[in-house]
Amino acid sequence: MSGFKEINVIDLILRKRNKGVLSRDEIASFIQGYTLGQIPDYQVSAWLMASFLNGMSEDEMVALTDSMMNSGQVLDLSDIPGRKVDKHSTGGVGDKTSIILAPLVASCGVLVPMISGRGLGHTGGTLDKLESIPGFSTQMSIQDYRSQLKDIGVVMIGQTDEIAPADKKLYALRDVTGTVEFIPFIAASILSKKLAEGINALVLDVKFGSGAFMSDEQDARKLAETLTNLGERFGTDTVALLTDMDQPLGFGVGNWPEIAESIACLQGNGPEDVMEITFALASEMLMAGGVAQSFDEGLFLAEQAIETGRAWEKFEQLVVRQGGTLESIRNPQERDKDRKEAFILAPADGMVTRIGAKIVGRAAVGLGAGRMKKEDTVDPLAGITLFVSAGDTVSKGDPLARIQASNKDRLEATRALVLPAFEFGEECEIPFSRIKDRYSDGSWLNP
Ligand code: URA
Repeated sequence: MSGFKEINVIDLILRKRNKGVLSRDEIASFIQGYTLGQIPDYQVSAWLMASFLNGMSEDEMVALTDSMMNSGQVLDLSDIPGRKVDKHSTGGVGDKTSIILAPLVASCGVLVPMISGRGLGHTGGTLDKLESIPGFSTQMSIQDYRSQLKDIGVVMIGQTDEIAPADKKLYALRDVTGTVEFIPFIAASILSKKLAEGINALVLDVKFGSGAFMSDEQDARKLAETLTNLGERFGTDTVALLTDMDQPLGFGVGNWPEIAESIACLQGNGPEDVMEITFALASEMLMAGGVAQSFDEGLFLAEQAIETGRAWEKFEQLVVRQGGTLESIRNPQERDKDRKEAFILAPADGMVTRIGAKIVGRAAVGLGAGRMKKEDTVDPLAGITLFVSAGDTVSKGDPLARIQASNKDRLEATRALVLPAFEFGEECEIPFSRIKDRYSDGSWLNP
């Protein structure tokens, strides 16, 4: 990036404060100036808050996304034959689908270059989960990223300094200035990174409910529409599924507990809710990759990949290529021997009617599965494994969940925090499906 154009930063702040609109060039210069360290945090903070309170036009949002994407390298993978498709989830408690999906879809012949993030708030991060596999590295050069994609069709890494550096700085500033929950900023942040990956298509999993980043369904719908339309404006085929994240997804929450559950899923023993969402997202990716012509064909291919063991073989290749040990994924129970554990027992006879995902997610973070502060290190073994789901009837003293970590320090405190997540009652409405809707080409399937 070079050639920062002198702009009157105060004028841009005043214009947003007075509900005005900025041009594409003004936004480009502003983002460039910030990335190069020529505009200080306090001025960008004021601009963020003014935009947050007074809104942004669609053109401003497109310009912001474009400037953030072009603040670093925009990868060109066109010399590697085949369509490249990625998936992005807005995050949820127990959402381990990326770990299953990436090798699954690659095993069906669609290239998956995946750049993921770390834990955010009460939701976990794919990188922290992958790094709980002993030896697994999520850092590599762009050259190695390209070679691995070409050789085995799948690569899973963290954001590098070369990809959308403006987002890294802006996200850190939004986090401490109360300007995170604003759809244009969220959309620009997510898409600037994804569009810089060199993909042809993107499948989004936009979640709502207590375990999601956005709890309200209408807000999540708006976010799905914004992300999808924005992706399309940049020439990337984009589709979004809207999924219910009110209760934890699957039984494992935390880093190694989610890897252990992903292993079970890849070996054909996954819980129904995780597999439902995984197969639906896989089918979308296979259609976007040109390998399936219909949703049903995509589902069939995805199920076959699990049944025949092809998805598992691809996962083994991925783990070995990124430095992980085969022993740890082939015998996950061996690693479990190192954990310290405590159990949550049912306080009375009754029916579990709901398990609050946010409470479980927060408790897992407090236990060490995520970060309270950016500098915190994560405990790979920390997490919570549920033994029941909504609708199950239990007797007093039955185990409801296991809490685990590398040491005993926080087990007792976490037990008290998790117990209120279990709600008991007479009746329980179990949703027929976690998948609520699908948005593409400007419309919802079930508006
Ligand atoms: N995830 C991101 O990458 N950015 C946001 O702003 C919110 C969620």
